Amino acid sequence: MQILLTRRLHDFAMKELQKRYKIVVHDGKIPMPKKILIEKIKNVDGLICFPYDTIDRKIIDSAKNLQVISTYSVGYDHIDLDAAKRKNIKIGYTPDVLTGATADLTIGLILDLMRRITEGDRLIRAGGWRQIFGPHDYVGVDLEGKTLGILGMGRIGQAVVKRAKGFGLSIQYHTRTRLPKSQERKLGIKYVRFNDLLKNSDILSIHTPYRKETHHIMNLKTMKKMKKSAILINTARGKIINEKDLVRALEAKIIAGAALDVFEKEPIGKNHKLTRMQNVVLAPHIGSSSAETRAKMAQITIQNLILGLEKKKMIYSV
Ligand code: DGY
Repeated sequence: MQILLTRRLHDFAMKELQKRYKIVVHDGKIPMPKKILIEKIKNVDGLICFPYDTIDRKIIDSAKNLQVISTYSVGYDHIDLDAAKRKNIKIGYTPDVLTGATADLTIGLILDLMRRITEGDRLIRAGGWRQIFGPHDYVGVDLEGKTLGILGMGRIGQAVVKRAKGFGLSIQYHTRTRLPKSQERKLGIKYVRFNDLLKNSDILSIHTPYRKETHHIMNLKTMKKMKKSAILINTARGKIINEKDLVRALEAKIIAGAALDVFEKEPIGKNHKLTRMQNVVLAPHIGSSSAETRAKMAQITIQNLILGLEKKKMIYSV
């Protein structure tokens, strides 16, 4: 069998794949240009892709033998599920293993923005730290007693809750399907309508998957419902926030700040308007990027592929 990887994975994963299959690896420009992908996918049985690869109908339709798509990500919004289903192609993905890492980063971004950590770092590196310990110097805000609003209460949302409790945050959430009351009680969280979540949150953190209904759900209109002192955190998908509206909201002080690990179009360059704002913390899509987690993701990605091609149940399938 032949498989295509749109990028090289860890050595252990490549060795495992090489034992079993004829492998084609894209080593060039990232993401793999569509024209090359269409050409290379024609005869392969399996595809390993990444969250930045757009696996649309045209690509899927050009694959004559494709049986399995295994993505190195928990998100699968980059794959046309209907096109894959029509051709009976199985899809594997990597939830669970990256839950903790993404929740850790979320807390890191909240702390960073509220206590102005990287802002201070930028100040020192630019030679701007001149006097020490002024009563009003670089003051941030306490986490304790604030309300954390979580949009989307899946695995990652719940892992954020567990961590946030330790900081004394009170937690409200909104999601498509409300959790059972017993679970809400166990987690110590309160379900509210979306508008109330916007209104009540001091910190609003996005943990919902990207889909038609969540496209630009955070826009100028919804941001205007938030507190002027509120901050917005996004470790989910960039297109959930209308980025132009976010820039306007930050410039007009409609909200107080934002910390973002994901963007509408990645990577963003140094001239992006967000890079010029002090009340913004930026990360280069590193939610799952710890050594342990990325290795586990590679392991699951190849196992999903192998199991799928052997017509066995994948560890995680869509
Ligand atoms: C994913 O796996 O979809 C995440 O965005 C990676 O951080």
